[in-house]
Amino acid sequence: MSERSRNLPRRSCLSSPGSNDRFLQKAVSVPADMSFLDLEDSVAPSEKAAARKKVVEAIRDLPWDDRVLCVRVNAWDTPWTYQDVVEVVGNSGMRLDEVMLPKVQSASEVVALDLLLTQVEKNVGLPVGHIGIEAQIETTRGLIEVESICASSKRLETVIFGPADFAASMEMPVLTGGVQIPTYPGDHFHYVFSKILMAGRANGLQVIDGPYLKVRDTDGLIDYCKRTATLGYDGKWALTPDQVEVINSVYSPTQELFDRAWDILEAYKTATESEGKGAVMFGDEMIDEASRKMAAKFVARGERAGR
Ligand code: GLV
Ligand code: MG
Repeated sequence: MSERSRNLPRRSCLSSPGSNDRFLQKAVSVPADMSFLDLEDSVAPSEKAAARKKVVEAIRDLPWDDRVLCVRVNAWDTPWTYQDVVEVVGNSGMRLDEVMLPKVQSASEVVALDLLLTQVEKNVGLPVGHIGIEAQIETTRGLIEVESICASSKRLETVIFGPADFAASMEMPVLTGGVQIPTYPGDHFHYVFSKILMAGRANGLQVIDGPYLKVRDTDGLIDYCKRTATLGYDGKWALTPDQVEVINSVYSPTQELFDRAWDILEAYKTATESEGKGAVMFGDEMIDEASRKMAAKFVARGERAGR
């Protein structure tokens, strides 16, 4: 729906607490593909109302570049969600691209947000459908329902995994959000990553991994980024400017792979259009229509990342 932001890159998605003016101002100068201004877990209950005003001012007044701009509202099981939406979407104007809904447990929660957004848009004169939705999957119930959640609204642009809340919901024996459990012989989130990715892609969504809370552990972050980037995720949350730099780099296709994908597209085009062949040799590999599809996705992602 929100056509401006749907296909913009989201390699790095920078989180900024909505209650902190300094962090909000700093976010503008950090080269993240997306910024989300948080009203949820990084804001204390006593600051929720004040944070709404700061977030509106930040959206309206700060010199944002053309990155995706989003607000994370509070989950539907709190008393704050509807006022977050009415106040922030109602006063932010056209620059706000999306609302992120945390702890989504069922498709009906996304539908409820979609309906509320339509009313707010009509009331304040925004085009209906202007605001997109990002859905966070971070509870056991949310994961069980992820397929219907991802199919629940045309406003959906991304689905996001929230490793910290998910570990709590699963009662996993870990105390840091987003890290691997060293005693597990494999990746304890592999099934979760794959399930969310499939549900997202089946509905044309971008798929994003959540935060890595050991913010000084660059090697650990690189390892973690490689896991989801290799599966095909579009990007990951960042909590600091240093994390943005690492994430942008790991989630960008290398120039070598990007150039190879281009060459596959060219070779396949020549084979099918000029030579009437469906399969052709490319170096020492056979390529066909499926190879074209893989290469086309790769090129699109590379172009989004500025290749
Ligand atoms: C993010 O919100 C998380 O819970 O990991
Ligand atoms: Mg969370």
